[in-house]
Amino acid sequence: MNLTADFKKYVCQTSASPLGLEIERAEGAYLLTRSGDKYLDLIAGIGVANIGHGRAEIQAAIAKQAGAYLHPMVYGEVVQEPQVRYARKLAEVLPGEIDNIFFTNSGAEAIDGVMKTARKFTGRQEILSFTGCYHGDTFGALSLQAEARYRRPFEPLVPQIGHLPWNEISGLGKITKKTAAVIFEPVQGEGGIYIPSLQFMQALQNRCREEGALLIADEVMTGFGRTGKLFAVEHFAIEPDLIVLAKALGGGMPLGAFAGARKIMHTLSENPPLAHVTTFGGHPVCCAAGLASLEIILQEDLCARAVAIGDRFMAGLKQISEQNSKLTAVRGLGCLIGLVFKNEALTQQFVQRCLTEKIIVGWTLFHSNILRMAPPLSLCDDEVEFALAKMCHLLS
Ligand SMILES: Cc1ncc(COP(=O)(O)O)c(C=O)c1O
Repeated sequence: MNLTADFKKYVCQTSASPLGLEIERAEGAYLLTRSGDKYLDLIAGIGVANIGHGRAEIQAAIAKQAGAYLHPMVYGEVVQEPQVRYARKLAEVLPGEIDNIFFTNSGAEAIDGVMKTARKFTGRQEILSFTGCYHGDTFGALSLQAEARYRRPFEPLVPQIGHLPWNEISGLGKITKKTAAVIFEPVQGEGGIYIPSLQFMQALQNRCREEGALLIADEVMTGFGRTGKLFAVEHFAIEPDLIVLAKALGGGMPLGAFAGARKIMHTLSENPPLAHVTTFGGHPVCCAAGLASLEIILQEDLCARAVAIGDRFMAGLKQISEQNSKLTAVRGLGCLIGLVFKNEALTQQFVQRCLTEKIIVGWTLFHSNILRMAPPLSLCDDEVEFALAKMCHLLS
């Protein structure tokens, strides 16, 4: 069997040039291939493996739950211990008054759910997002995207969506009493690792409060310690009304969620009942894995580790960018780091050279000259120094 040929033939392809590594195992910060190569994963499955790959605690949690039951009933009908325990733990650690969780299967599905919740709760239709945002690829989530080339082939999309300029306080005047919600990423990921100012974030919260619009934080990429806080909104001392989670939420299993205060989330419980349901959302095996992962993040203080790893990478890479014209900027928050290259060709060359050296770095969707690093928060010092030395060598 030619696995790669079959992958290209039978598995629907999403790009002309997939990474195409044949994965055999994943352990710690490494992906091990069938051909015996060992790749250092500096993108953590795109922000999923915050605790690293292949942790025994996650495998044990999955095995235990799989031995008890898999899918007893659709979401919301029967009491499933892993789901309840995880919702309770999340309510303890989520910011502000958020204490009520709706589990989904993915991030984009949670975005759709939060859009429905905002419309129904406020009775308003308009939802605003920002230039450079990415919230996923379902119809609702795609409608929020400002990049016309990604939207156009699928139009018409959800109506009453508007886009505000990212990180510009002057644009916030467009939030009015007609606005149901404003949704934002605390650090834009696919948009190029853009970190907003503290003033902008606080002005956004104030304007939403004044106009009665719900403030929705999409923490799908930034959550669970990635930026050095458990949730990135904590950097800006703001408290969103609703929050969207996925990626690291499931500890490597498919799980998403949106959450808010009970008084908001209750809008999904009635009039009509069962207006927003899911068969598999909050699957008990995924919740068991997610809870085990969150416990590791808290016990091992991976938020602090994210700061230490991110600071070291950024200091080393910034030094290179000052001496080297290929790399024009390095920016980031904790372990979400953007490398800005002079042009696309240099970016591609660097990615290829990294791959040759068995290091995986990631792309960003909207900028062909910006790379993303989102390594596991469990990298040890030797792995950080090894990666940095290799990258600096490849850039020089
Ligand atoms: C910020 C953000 N929101 C939402 C999503 C969509 O999540 P999913 O791919 O699980 O649908 C992503 C995915 O990359 C994301 O980065």
